[in-house]
Amino acid sequence: MIIIKTIEELRELVKGWKREGLSVGFVPTMGYLHEGHKSLIIRSVAENDKTIVSDFVNPMQFGPTEDLNTYPRDLDRDAELVTEAGADAIFNPEPEEMYTDSFSSYVDMTTLTGGLCGKTRPIHFRGVCTVLAKLFNIVTPDKAYFGQKDAQQLAVVKHMVEDLNFGLEIVGCPIIREEDGLAKSSRNTYLSKEEREAALILSKSLKLGSDMMEAGEKDVQKIVQVIKENIEKEPLAKIDYVEIVSWPELEEVSEITGTVLCAMAVYIGKTRLIDNIIR
Ligand code: PAJ
Repeated sequence: MIIIKTIEELRELVKGWKREGLSVGFVPTMGYLHEGHKSLIIRSVAENDKTIVSDFVNPMQFGPTEDLNTYPRDLDRDAELVTEAGADAIFNPEPEEMYTDSFSSYVDMTTLTGGLCGKTRPIHFRGVCTVLAKLFNIVTPDKAYFGQKDAQQLAVVKHMVEDLNFGLEIVGCPIIREEDGLAKSSRNTYLSKEEREAALILSKSLKLGSDMMEAGEKDVQKIVQVIKENIEKEPLAKIDYVEIVSWPELEEVSEITGTVLCAMAVYIGKTRLIDNIIR
């Protein structure tokens, strides 16, 4: 497993592989890797001849008051996990390698990005789409792997790849959870012991909603209400949003007739956590 810092080096590596007719899988990450990331890498390794993992905390997708500076970083630990998972290379560029002083081209999507996380994070998806467009152009993978953990991101990326003809397949992968149900996240490291306990309110409340749907409840407002009331019982939790929208169009629905995404963002103390189910 090798660590690559420059775009030029990475291009050379991939060119060599392509000359040999090898397929390339790609797992974009912001590092501080956990079992959720690992599941994507393992899937890519199984489905492609070569796998590249990018490990880049992308400044462009963080708002001015968000956690860019405190976002956890540990390249040595990441390298161990990536080696274990069987990938071939980590691409870990410095921000200056990705964004020169004169950088001025952006990918701005006009659908899918306004609701859910886009409401409280208005520049987030522009940053995500722009960095992914760059990474897809640099890596030129056959397939790229994304977690359903960030369901809106998954829908957005699939749409962008179709709109802009990137000519690669986006593979969505299930959410990996801790034994007690908390969705794995690099941001879980911010939680104190007490907050870690309180964070269970996300998956527990989703389960409540899921059970209602299972029992045949179709009224979106009713389900959202029950979920919200349950979250509000947890003193350390503050709701950013709880929504049920159509999947993968992310359109408002009042009644459940087809596949829906039930998604939430909840602050536990100062830490904003997201979770969802698709059903
Ligand atoms: P990051 O938060 O590091 O996540 C990288 C990938 O891992 C995403 O596709 C995310 O959905 C997936 N992932 C995270 N936690 C997961 C879990 N518990 N189960 C399954 N998959 C999980 O998402 C980003 O980085 C960035 O926005 C990025 C796409 C790299 C662009 O900068």
